[in-house]
Amino acid sequence: MKRLLIPMLMAATAAIGASAAMPVIKGETFPDTDGRHINAHGGGIIKQGDTYYWYGEHRGDGSPGSGQEGVTCYTSSDLRTWTDHGIVLAVSDEPGHPLERGGIIERPKVIYCPATGKYVMWFHHELKGRGYGAAEAAVAVADNPFGPFELLHSGRVNPGIAHANLPAEALTKVWDDKLEWWTPEWHQAVEEGLFAVRDLEGGQMARDMGLFIDDDGKAYHIYSSEENLTLNIAELDPTFTRHTGKYIRIFPGGHNEAPAMFKRDGTYWMITSGCTGWAPNAARLMRADNIMGPWEMLPNPCRGEGADKTFQGQSTYVYRDGDSYTFMADIWNPKNLGDSRHLWLPISFDADGVPYIDSPSNSK
Ligand code: DGJ
Repeated sequence: MKRLLIPMLMAATAAIGASAAMPVIKGETFPDTDGRHINAHGGGIIKQGDTYYWYGEHRGDGSPGSGQEGVTCYTSSDLRTWTDHGIVLAVSDEPGHPLERGGIIERPKVIYCPATGKYVMWFHHELKGRGYGAAEAAVAVADNPFGPFELLHSGRVNPGIAHANLPAEALTKVWDDKLEWWTPEWHQAVEEGLFAVRDLEGGQMARDMGLFIDDDGKAYHIYSSEENLTLNIAELDPTFTRHTGKYIRIFPGGHNEAPAMFKRDGTYWMITSGCTGWAPNAARLMRADNIMGPWEMLPNPCRGEGADKTFQGQSTYVYRDGDSYTFMADIWNPKNLGDSRHLWLPISFDADGVPYIDSPSNSK
């Protein structure tokens, strides 16, 4: 029986596509097949057939004047050797174009939409000349994974629609918008919906972001909103290109960025960072039984040397392959963002099923 079972299991594995093991990357240079450090930051990986696609921010090459050209795509068959396919969503040199060069494209994530057969990219988008003020979520689509991705729209999220868990009183309350930031009164007002109500009409701010596809095929957009103070989880429609209007706010005033959501044995997990610009800080871990909440906060998931600064990294994505989960993070180099390094560490689970990440010195 054993002799029969092993070939049968091997055949079954081949039929669903063999999977490669994710390498551990500890911030060393990660060269592509042309020998250049992989310029795909704040991104994520999807697998289609036997090919892995890694999308991320192009951040210039460090030479004077070089900047963001758009979003890059690299492919691999083993997760170790990556081939550069260039820019798949490009900035524009046309004045007034929504993607005009000089704007900001951050944290692009690509998913495949079975309902439309299209590849859908969401990213945090800032308009030229406005710093981080526009705080828009943008969507681009392509017929194939190498693009070119075409911008569908860019804007704030769910204008005119209140979050499902915004207390009803928030909508009728008279807000004091002169409250001094960081005072206890201001914190309380933020929690109660000060900024969610301020932005209700024009739509919610959307900066650092991730996407998540649930077991039932529904997709969600998770983003830092309300001046980066509050996370939002917003359901997408079956084309994955629009919000349905069903969304929640979590940890109001909690100052979370860099959300990376994953699911294991029916539990939703999310790793985020605090907000300290390009500088590293301690990661946060949160969990929920229902993606629409309630969510609860757990202690820092990182362990060992450097855990209080996420080993110098900031979360971008959790890559899942069966029961294997990898924490993907960026070690930012603000002086030369293109040379920011990649940190890929395995996620382990303790006896209670709570995820943790061991320090690079303990990871292999
Ligand atoms: C932290 C964010 O996570 C990054 O994506 C980027 O927006 C930097 N802040 C800019 O300071």
